[in-house]
Amino acid sequence: MRSVKSPVKEWRTAAACLAVVIVIVVQALGLRAGWPQEPAEPRIDEEIAKQEKIYQRRGADVPSGYITNRGLSDYAELLPTGFCDALGRLGNSDRWLDIGAGAAQAILDYYAPEGDAASAEKCARPGARARAVAISIEDRRTDKWRQQAASLGDDRIRYLSGKSLRHYSVEELGKFQIITDVFGGFTYTADLSRFVDKVLRLLEVGGTFYTLLPGVHLEGGDKLGTWYLTELENAAGRPEKVCSWLKKTACAKVTCESKSDWKRPTELIKVEKVCSDVSVPRMKLLEFVSGYPPDRRFQLEQ
Ligand SMILES: C[S@@+](CC[C@H](N)C(=O)[O-])C[C@H]1O[C@@H](n2cnc3c(N)ncnc32)[C@H](O)[C@@H]1O
Repeated sequence: MRSVKSPVKEWRTAAACLAVVIVIVVQALGLRAGWPQEPAEPRIDEEIAKQEKIYQRRGADVPSGYITNRGLSDYAELLPTGFCDALGRLGNSDRWLDIGAGAAQAILDYYAPEGDAASAEKCARPGARARAVAISIEDRRTDKWRQQAASLGDDRIRYLSGKSLRHYSVEELGKFQIITDVFGGFTYTADLSRFVDKVLRLLEVGGTFYTLLPGVHLEGGDKLGTWYLTELENAAGRPEKVCSWLKKTACAKVTCESKSDWKRPTELIKVEKVCSDVSVPRMKLLEFVSGYPPDRRFQLEQ
């Protein structure tokens, strides 16, 4: 006897088959797109813990790509046009903060005695030097730093370590005419908008933040086949450039110099604080993969 299937039963079977197909396709796409196979938050926490370990590596254990001793001439080459002249214009009562200073070689060069080999590049006018503060999560002070700090006395150069920028208050650090960041917190932080907000709060009105960001979508357009390190997206999930995001900040004048021919497309960024009511559009962290530097993906909040 021929069995007769009811239309309802047939529809249910077809729906069940379709559901199985959808699950298989979604899983396959998920694997191909490299989507997280576990919830994002614990994975991010694990990666941030791995990042902390990178900071603490010492001696032969320090990865060769994690450079901590760039001098002032490197800073002059890597930072936006005008950094050296601006540092040279600072007087004895002005202040310079270097975030993510590593061994603080740039500050040592700045304070090198006249006639020292490093002094040719020290971006300072004869006699005048700003007070300088170096911040690093891990303590990478050298004997040379200790000797120089002791001989200068009077708190001309300070080295702070043991925590990241976000854990210092403005009252604790005071305010600065110039803030620099060369492959420091701006490249490494897991909270980019909060980082920039703190930097701007630490600047005097009229002060300037000089930094750079490697492996980003450039203001002037991208090269094909680029491996990005820091990716931003708007609230709708469309790509957002770091410079267009920063330019939405209240009380900040942002200038970008795109370096498309560097090993990684890099944006040299200058942010001038033009009034006191700073407000940085918030971004949330979507992905973080530890490294030197880490891979990060952020999304603008509404
Ligand atoms: C690759 S080293 C760069 C050192 C130095 N600027 C140079 O170019 O030689 C990274 C530095 O950034 C620091 N760093 C990373 N994230 C930071 C944060 N959120 N606040 C303060 N320092 C940070 C690290 O502790 C380290 O001193």
